[in-house]
Amino acid sequence: MSESAGKSFLWNGRAVRFQPGETVAAALRRAGVTAFGSAAGGQQGRYFCGIGACQGCLVSPAEGMPFEACLTLARPGMVLGPVLPAEGPGA
Ligand code: FES
Repeated sequence: MSESAGKSFLWNGRAVRFQPGETVAAALRRAGVTAFGSAAGGQQGRYFCGIGACQGCLVSPAEGMPFEACLTLARPGMVLGPVLPAEGPGA
């Protein structure tokens, strides 16, 4: 059995397997996840630039601030989901 067997994180409650050194965005893409939730300007979040410039790939961890999935290495046990749209006027 390879060293990478069993390495996964959760995306919206779904286990997503990843390879060593793979970013969250790359693992999600390989798993067929193309919509990452809300992005700036009311756009659909997605993996676009891959270099941290567009902010299109922001994802939310269970605790903490959203981060760029394209710049963040996947780690076992991460619990992630889409960034929820801001609520309320002026949010
Ligand atoms: S894909 Fe552009 S910041 Fe991640």
